[in-house]
Order: sequence, then C-alpha cells, then structure tokens
Amino acid sequence: MCGIVGYVGNRNAYDILIKGLHRLEYRGYDSAGVALVSPSGKLNVYKSRGKVSNLEDYCKDKDTTGGTGIAHTRWATHGEPSDRNAHPHFSEDEEIALVHNGTIENYKVLKDALIQNGCKFQSETDTEVLVQLIEYIRTHNDCSLLDAVKEALKQVVGAYAIAVIEKNNPDTIIAARKSSPLVIGIGEGEMFLASDATPIVEYTKDVVYVKDNEIAVVSKTEPLKLINLNNEETKVDVKTLQLSISQLEKGGYPHFMLKEIFEQPSTLRDCIRGRVTEEGKKIIISGVLDSKEKFLNAKRIIIVACGTSWHASLIGKYLIQDMCRIPVEVEYASEFRYSNPVLDDRDVVIAVSQSGETADTLAAIQMAHEAGAYVYGISNVVGSSIPRNTDSGTYIHVGPEIGVASTKAFTGQVMVLTLLAMAIAELKGSMPKEELDKIGEEILKIPEYVKQTLELNDQIERLSLIFTYAHNFLYLGRGYSYPVALEGALKLKEISYIHAEGYPAAEMKHGPIALIDAEMPTVIIAPNDHLYEKIVNNVQQVKARHGSVIAIVSEGDKEIKNIADHVIEVPDVPECLTPIITSVPLQLLSYYIAINKGKDVDMPRNLAKSVTVE
Ligand code: M6R
Repeated sequence: MCGIVGYVGNRNAYDILIKGLHRLEYRGYDSAGVALVSPSGKLNVYKSRGKVSNLEDYCKDKDTTGGTGIAHTRWATHGEPSDRNAHPHFSEDEEIALVHNGTIENYKVLKDALIQNGCKFQSETDTEVLVQLIEYIRTHNDCSLLDAVKEALKQVVGAYAIAVIEKNNPDTIIAARKSSPLVIGIGEGEMFLASDATPIVEYTKDVVYVKDNEIAVVSKTEPLKLINLNNEETKVDVKTLQLSISQLEKGGYPHFMLKEIFEQPSTLRDCIRGRVTEEGKKIIISGVLDSKEKFLNAKRIIIVACGTSWHASLIGKYLIQDMCRIPVEVEYASEFRYSNPVLDDRDVVIAVSQSGETADTLAAIQMAHEAGAYVYGISNVVGSSIPRNTDSGTYIHVGPEIGVASTKAFTGQVMVLTLLAMAIAELKGSMPKEELDKIGEEILKIPEYVKQTLELNDQIERLSLIFTYAHNFLYLGRGYSYPVALEGALKLKEISYIHAEGYPAAEMKHGPIALIDAEMPTVIIAPNDHLYEKIVNNVQQVKARHGSVIAIVSEGDKEIKNIADHVIEVPDVPECLTPIITSVPLQLLSYYIAINKGKDVDMPRNLAKSVTVE
C-alpha cells in the first residue's frame, strides 16, 4: 500500500528518494511523486501516474536539486489513480507539501469546513484535506509548521503516516504516525524516513520506529525530536536494523517470487534455528514459557489474520486442536472486528501477519485487548506494529518478503504455528512425548525435504504450459490439505488472474462438482495421511466427469498415481508437516502459469504487499 520516503541532509535528496521509492514498489501502488526544496528556495512537486520509472522520465528535464524532500507511492483509495490525485499534495499557497499513507475518515466534514472558509481543492483525495488544514492553521494562527501539524492531527479521525515539508524551513521534515507505519533512519548530519526500513538500510542501521500519536521533527542539524499531541517530549528509542541490502535484491533470479520460493530451505532452517534442539526433543518458542498460564488456562484460542496468513492460521487451528486439545477458532480479522465477538480474559488471541502492519489485524488485536484477552503475535517484520502491540509473540525469521504473493512467509508461519502447538502440547502433556519427539526429528529434516521438492521445478514448469490458458481451476484438499488448497488457489488468482477456487474435497459434491468438465483442471492435494483413502474417492469423482486432475501425492503413492492425469510426488512426511511440503509445488505452478501469461508476478495489478488501510 502507499509508501513514504523522506530525506534531509547534504546529499541530493532526489536520488535517495527515487531509490527509496523503487525499494517500496513491492508494497503495491499506482502513482508516484516527489517534493523537493531547491537550493534557490523553491518547493517543487512532481508526480506521475504509473510506475516510479514514469516519474523519473517526467523529472528528466526538471529541477531536481535540493537536500530536503519527501516522496510517495500511492495506492488509490479516495479518487482514481491519476497525476492529480498522486502525492505529494501542495497547500493552496504552495508553501507546504505533504505525503500520506492511510485514510482520513472524517475528510468530508473537514473539507466542507475548509471550502466554506475559502479553500480550493485540486484533487479528490482525503489527503489534500490534511495539507490544506495544516496550512490553514499555520497561516491563521501564525504558528510553526510543527504546531500546525499538531493541531490539525487533533481534528483528524483515521489512520496516517505523514511527512510534511515547508518551503521556508528547508532543513526540517515534520512527520507523524497513527496506525500506519513510519520508521526514521539516523545518519551523520542527515536523516531518512520511510514506511519501512527498506529505503533506509543502505544508509544507516540506526532507526527509530515512530509510535502512534507521535510527531517527529526530522532535521539535518538537530537530533531527532519526538513529541506527542499534548506537546510532551517522548523517548527516542534507537534500534539497530537486522536487515541487509542483499536480502532486498533478486540475487540472480528473474523475480523476487521465484527467489523467495527457492529460499525456503534456508528460510525454514532460519525459522527452526534455536527453536528445536539437535535431536528434535525440545521446542523453545519465545513468549510461550512466559505466558504459560495463559495458554494452559485458555478456554479457547482465536487466531485472527488475513489472506495467506489466514490460510496458515487455519493450519494452525488443526495443529493446536490436534496436539493441544484446545478449541480454536480462525477469523478473518476484517470480519472479526465488526462481528461483535464474544471475548473475555480467558481467551488467547493469536494474530498472524507477515508484514505486521495489516490494518484489520491490528484493529482485531485492539478489540481483543479491550476485552481483556491475552494477545500473542506472529509476524515477520521486526519492529512492525503487531509485535509492538501484542502481549508476547515471536517472529518467523524468513527475511524480507518482497514478492506480493506470499510464499516463504506462508511456510514460515506454518512452521512457527507447528512449533507453537508442540510447545503448548508439551507444557500441557496433551500428546505423548515420543510422538512429539518424532515430529521434532522430522522438523529438522524439513529444509532438506523442501529442497528435494524444489527439484521438481522443471517438471512443474513443463506442466504449467499445459494449463496456462485454462479459465478456471479447482483446488481440493482434506484435513491439513484443505488450507493448502485455499492457498494454492489464492496464489494462482493473484498473480495469473485465472479464477481459482479452493474447496474441501468432500464438499465438492455439494456444489462445485457441477463445474467439472474436460476444460477445468482440478488440483488435488493428496499426501499420505489419514484421509488418503477418502480423497482417492474424490479423485475418482472428478475423473468420472472427465475432469483433468493434477495430484500432489507423497513419494510411494500407489493409487492416485494410476488415476490422475498428472502427478507431482513430494517427500513423505508426518501428516502435520505435509502443508509445508505440498504448498511448494503449488507456488511453482502458479508462478510458471503467470510467467507463461506474461504477468508481473512480483507486482500483480491492484494488490498491495502491506494492506495498511481498511
Ligand atoms: O502482512 P499480512 O500477512 O498481514 O498480509 C495479509 C494478506 O494481505 C496477504 O497474505 C495477501 O493475501 C498476500 N498477497 C497473499 O499472497
């Protein structure tokens, strides 16, 4: 979703800002823009619909000098993607410019009031209201930009991360945050700001994560200053970034998505490291021992998440129920928050999110806290909002995921949920220790099994050619493989734009079976598990209607091999670990189908990596 970058210092701000915008492209956007204070004291704003490269073309013959600037990638919410609606937005007098990530919910009321006071608007965005309001306050109260921002934010309802610059005070950026991410990088005589650390990491490792309701004075000459809306100074807590530039580059792969699929043996190794002892006999997962009583006394666990993280959470439900015998509900965070949920202090809520910034998941966390529930977070991005707003939690440690279609984060989430279920089961004594130890031993081999699965790459690439022009796909699975079917269908939809539906295999006969004909491929996830014989029937049912079946089976499979049209054989692992293995060929299949269709797999249309608005 929208991305913000800012720079103040002695270098050419434009170069840093454009590089930063490229780093933020993965978040998803439809226009881009930049504002710079030139050495001659002009405030120049340039913006363009489309890619950052369009903006660069547009700026070729423009004045891009200056050591202070802000820039933005916009993902349209209020108003279509256009040059006019792109950020930065100017105040009417062109004295200040602002970029914004989030949504101003009461923008209509504020806009009407400003229009009544004579303000003229250029765009359809909610953001322009903010810049006009700040300037109105600044000029009418004859106050500083900082005071005007503070007063304006008191009137605003909604979510924001903003950065504002002023023509007449070129050495300072005023930035603020509420419910949308904002990080400040501290260099020598220069400072950076951004929606995440990716544009900052090549310049400094010293960062400050701005908190909700804080305003930052980001200056080239003064140390970073943070205040709250009541004008009280708050603590500047400098953290060290654990991120490297090589993690943000494609490393020889044509796309981030393929790189991230192939990284899984090592990301899973990182995810397991330190959490499973050498022999697999002890599981250590942070936050569980400290909150032992909460998990042991939980009357229920509710997992809240969105998209792929929701699919991982559904696997988490099966794992926790199986291993810990605790009732588990899995909720779409966006539904949960408006469903008037019945919650109390005996509930444990687990929030799962790769980015740690998904607005709906954050809202669900807040509701859970208000109801007195204990909240545990599982996320990937260190320092993101979810780990900072939960009672305890852990990271999946799979490194930055840049491809919009989540791959390594999904397997990392499933792995962490598996370890979490095992850790609780051990504390609770709900599963024989020998069984847990056996799973622990197999977990240590998972990176190797995933590596073997990736050796099927060429077979899957060839297979993709047969199905590139299918209009619809059905994905079926049972038990642990049902969420894998959902995830496989989502992967295909989001990057190839082919309609795909994931379904519990046995439910097929209650409706979707009507869709089956020779034209529609059905992907059936049928590893060696306790439902194997049942799913053999489902394969037969599809074949009896002349459907074409692509089956994901375990090595050594006997029956489905003889019925399905195409078979992908993956390593045979214990049932609870099958999702980590069977999801990998589905990632590759979606990737190659999308590539065959010439789609932009890393930045699919309309999608954002980090969904920071409702
Ligand atoms: O960052 P989160 O895990 O909270 O994001 C949730 C979804 O937006 C995300 O999983 C989305 O569905 C991906 N595009 C899936 O590939």
